[in-house]
Amino acid sequence: MEVSYLILNGELPDAEQKAAFDREVTNHTMVKEPMLRFLDGFGTDAHPMAMLTGLVGAMSAFYHDSTDITNPEHRRISAIRLIAKMPTLVAMVYKHSVGQPVMYPRNDLSYTGNFLRMMFGTPAEDYQINDVVERALDRIFILHADHEQNASTSTVRLCGSSGTNPYAAIAAGIACLWGPAHGGANEACLHMLENIQANGGLAKVGEFMEQVKDKSSGVRLMGFGHRVYKNYDPRAKLMQETCREVLSALGLENDPLFKLAMELERIALEDDYFVERKLYPNVDFYSGIVQRAIGIPTPLFTGIFALARTVGWISQWDEMLGDPEFKIGRPRQLYTGYAERDVKK
Ligand code: CMC
Repeated sequence: MEVSYLILNGELPDAEQKAAFDREVTNHTMVKEPMLRFLDGFGTDAHPMAMLTGLVGAMSAFYHDSTDITNPEHRRISAIRLIAKMPTLVAMVYKHSVGQPVMYPRNDLSYTGNFLRMMFGTPAEDYQINDVVERALDRIFILHADHEQNASTSTVRLCGSSGTNPYAAIAAGIACLWGPAHGGANEACLHMLENIQANGGLAKVGEFMEQVKDKSSGVRLMGFGHRVYKNYDPRAKLMQETCREVLSALGLENDPLFKLAMELERIALEDDYFVERKLYPNVDFYSGIVQRAIGIPTPLFTGIFALARTVGWISQWDEMLGDPEFKIGRPRQLYTGYAERDVKK
């Protein structure tokens, strides 16, 4: 909550501001009940990101009382609504895919604790929040909260620059985040580790790395490399530490995928191919292992990223619209084709 406040307002809150912010966010955690029926229209095998894109886009149909984007108060309410409702929507999507009843939010819990309960609680049993798991997920949320002009944030800005409503702009960001070169990398990274494990595990790591270095194979080391970081992604360091904490708290110290990841990293950091190209682990390399240990299914990983990035997206959108020099975004194109063509007879 402090980080969300900081990103939205540019300063950390004092105790009073924090309490008021908490109250406001928790006041908006529920979603309109008809959204559940909208969710029911999806098959249970639909990808969570497909459902999430649809649900967030649909929010504009349910919350059109505050979509005057020229009014700063309307923009603030939309931001609060999105931050408050994203955990509810992500948990709803998960419950839908496993066929369990949706858990309504509990406002006496922390932002992360409430999300964990909506994910893993059932009406039949009380859910005990594990402190280490709550702290780990909180870290994931903080580390993913904002990251300047990445592809999805630029998408939110470009989409929002037409004056469309905030829910439409955030839905566009979610759609962009889905791709494997961006937020989808954590899902792709876990699939990669599972595949290596299924095909021989640690003994086959060397062979896999040879494939990665062979350009004709089309195989990339997922969770490695970054358009901006040409050094060790500081978020990956924290994620690796969190990974150890969670695995040890859950008695999973011998997790084979963590061992594989450590070995891949060890080889990569010593190998000329990776060193010369300045390829280091990024945030997605270890975050999937943490999420898997917590019990989050792989197809939902990018949904967790979307939940966390929402505050960054909406703050950037608000900053753009509040700028007096704001104009519609319009990238130019340099045409290099033929000047003229005749219609064929
Ligand atoms: N595995 C193997 N080779 C790689 C990798 C990789 N993961 N990433 C880059 N390279 C090579 C690439 O083939 C190229 O080699 P060469 O110079 O011989 O042609 C060189 O490194 C530079 O690559 P690039 O594609 O020009 O680098 P980029 O800055 O355009 O790409 C990237 C950045 C993140 C798309 C890319 O590193 C990648 O595909 N990584 C794997 C996917 C991934 O982990 N994405 C998550 C990014 S961080 C979280 C987020 O933004 O959501």
